[in-house]
Amino acid sequence: MDIKKAKARVTQLQKELTYHNQLYYNDGTQAISDGDYDSLMNELKGIEELYPSLITDDSPSQRVGGTPLKEFKQISHPVRMLSIEDIHELKEEEIIDTDTTAENNLIEWHKKTLKTLPSDQELFTVEPKIDGVAVSIMYENSKLQYAATRGDGETGDDITQNILTIRTIPTSLPNNAPSIFEIRGEVFMPNKAFEELNQIRSEEGKTKFINPRNATAGTLKQLDPNVVSKRPIEVIFHSFGLIGGYDLKTIEQYRQFLMELNLPVDKWFRIIQSSAQLKAAVLELDSDRHTFPYGTDGAVIKVNQIKSHESLGSTSKFPRWACAYKYRPEQGQTILNGVTIQVGRTGVLTPVAELDPIFISGTTVSRATLHNQDEIDRKDIHIGDTVMIEKSGEIIPAVIKVNLDKRPQNTIRFDLYAHVNGKCPSCNSAISKEGGFTAWRCNSPNCPDQIMAKLKHFGGRRMLDLEGLGISVAEKLVTSELVKNPLDLFDLKAEQLAEMELEPAKLNSGAKSKPRRFGEKKALKLTGSIQTAKDLPLARWLHALGIPNLGESASKECARTHRTFDEILNSSILELISERWEKENWVKNNPVKSKITTKNNASGIDRSEQSKQFKNRIIEINESLEDYKISSELGGVACRSLITYLNSETGKSSLNKLKCLNVSPISTNYAPIPSLQKTENLPLSGTTWVITGTLSESRGHFKSLIETNGGNVTDSISKKTNYLLAGQNPGSKIDKANKLRIEVITEDKLNDLISRN
Ligand code: IVH
Repeated sequence: MDIKKAKARVTQLQKELTYHNQLYYNDGTQAISDGDYDSLMNELKGIEELYPSLITDDSPSQRVGGTPLKEFKQISHPVRMLSIEDIHELKEEEIIDTDTTAENNLIEWHKKTLKTLPSDQELFTVEPKIDGVAVSIMYENSKLQYAATRGDGETGDDITQNILTIRTIPTSLPNNAPSIFEIRGEVFMPNKAFEELNQIRSEEGKTKFINPRNATAGTLKQLDPNVVSKRPIEVIFHSFGLIGGYDLKTIEQYRQFLMELNLPVDKWFRIIQSSAQLKAAVLELDSDRHTFPYGTDGAVIKVNQIKSHESLGSTSKFPRWACAYKYRPEQGQTILNGVTIQVGRTGVLTPVAELDPIFISGTTVSRATLHNQDEIDRKDIHIGDTVMIEKSGEIIPAVIKVNLDKRPQNTIRFDLYAHVNGKCPSCNSAISKEGGFTAWRCNSPNCPDQIMAKLKHFGGRRMLDLEGLGISVAEKLVTSELVKNPLDLFDLKAEQLAEMELEPAKLNSGAKSKPRRFGEKKALKLTGSIQTAKDLPLARWLHALGIPNLGESASKECARTHRTFDEILNSSILELISERWEKENWVKNNPVKSKITTKNNASGIDRSEQSKQFKNRIIEINESLEDYKISSELGGVACRSLITYLNSETGKSSLNKLKCLNVSPISTNYAPIPSLQKTENLPLSGTTWVITGTLSESRGHFKSLIETNGGNVTDSISKKTNYLLAGQNPGSKIDKANKLRIEVITEDKLNDLISRN
């Protein structure tokens, strides 16, 4: 084939494949078989390989692949990504007035919003609230620039490579697209695809995802787009960020325009005017949504006129022109066949209901949490009962009540202690219940289930992210006693791991797969990620150690105020927070006004004197902590628990082990006294910047570069702007800057400014 013929064929194939992508993803139909699709794709890839000059950026072949990233670049959103105010559907017992019924909060919102609008005739739109992960995609001059996650609303991860694996997202738009076109939507995994993915994962001995949203979030966080391309994610667009060069009047018009551009939107869409229509629409959606192939958890109601959005404005969190009406979690009845007991990483025994499988909220549920014995008693749960299960997209399914009419005869209430004979089902040691706690607990440090749960937590994505440490691997490592403490992982050799025979996986059919050898490739991956983990920041390590009451946020806050484990060991901050919490509790539990004026045994002083002393001490502590501006995430419970851990045998030996392994995690978010961060004498102090165009690094990078050097970065140009940092294809901002005589600066000049000063 000569290049001319090749070119013609490539163009033809690209067109055909794009058409089939649209059919498949936008319209949910298929004109050719998967096999035929693959052969068209293979033919295209084959010719492109022969003639690389024919590869265009928007060729369907270019969507999959790309090189794994080390980390995501940061993108600063030109318009903040807000969330929406939730209005919850009322529970039955909350409905007092049956006339207005469950929707009255929503109707109130509608009326209140109408009142603040110029006309009481304004239209509203109603659409499904998709239970997915928010994404923002920027097109400039019809070319896709980036795709980003919501992040903290201001800055998100650059997930362009991952988003390009979704075949309905075009890399270029027709020429009539707005010059700046930031479209926002929801990435999700269809329910069916989610179940299939989990089935495959369980066959491969990997951890299952909890729900489709979780699977989507996990997928988008992958640094390797080749992994993402194997995960069936899709997108639906519902809103916008920055738009330039297009006169957008209504939500309805925007949706229409997206459809003309062949961008996927939700098919379900209503326009309403009266409260009665609004009520009817949300009810209709509630019944329709169960047939959708993806999860929804509510209705989003928006003011149709965009001009009105501007006049209504937003609070610091939500726009006032939209709300999300959240449906109550879905419920279903099924039979409780038995109860199994799970031992968690802190030794707590959790009863889990084993159910006749039931389809709720788009997925099959066969297990649900029973929380603890108190909850079982309160709900009077017997094995054999017909129980009501509740599940929303986000939460673990739970048993909420029993249908007593269907209770079989001669059953008795489930009793956890009796069920396990007072012994831990994993290690057989005696279980106990500490005063004031509802949970039964296994206290053995050698309990295999506890170690397994600790190990899984340790290697979790948000902790040390140990690739290849799935359930079956963790199980094998613990049962073969290769790992008694998560830190033992660091002593494992790749050869040792490769030889491991994993237990057969349980298939959905009930059968078991063949036993599998772990193998060299996976073993090397795991040992590789174990080595990488050594350099992870302090916050991740703190979280990974699984210290009770020290979650992700508390760990981050702790790392913001301490540089190393040594600093934490000698920390007065932790001591003070913990002391304050104890004193506050004492004051709370010993009200002075109480008639009893017993003397305090230890000090001999009376309650009111003691209370006064404690209150003064609390003031003193607050003063010492003032400058640190410690968030409530790092509270007294977390600090007490951390101190207890550090002084315990387990804590001491873990820190010792880290020393031996030469692991000394360092905080990467250390900024103990926030006010000091804003020093006056930085090179860019007092200057305000706007960033535009394509730069050598992400906008987020330059934003933090400018900010750490004392400058301030804003989204749009105004009289207050001092400099416009412009990269390639700067767009309309340059014109505005020139008009306002604002200095336009290149990357090199910025670096000059910083180093010169
Ligand atoms: S409109 C100002 N429409 O829900 C927010 N959002 O809880 C404008 N979401 O961040 C967004 N379905 O990611 C809109 N039909 C829909 C949606 C939707 C899901 C997400 C969105 C938003 C979150 C807010």
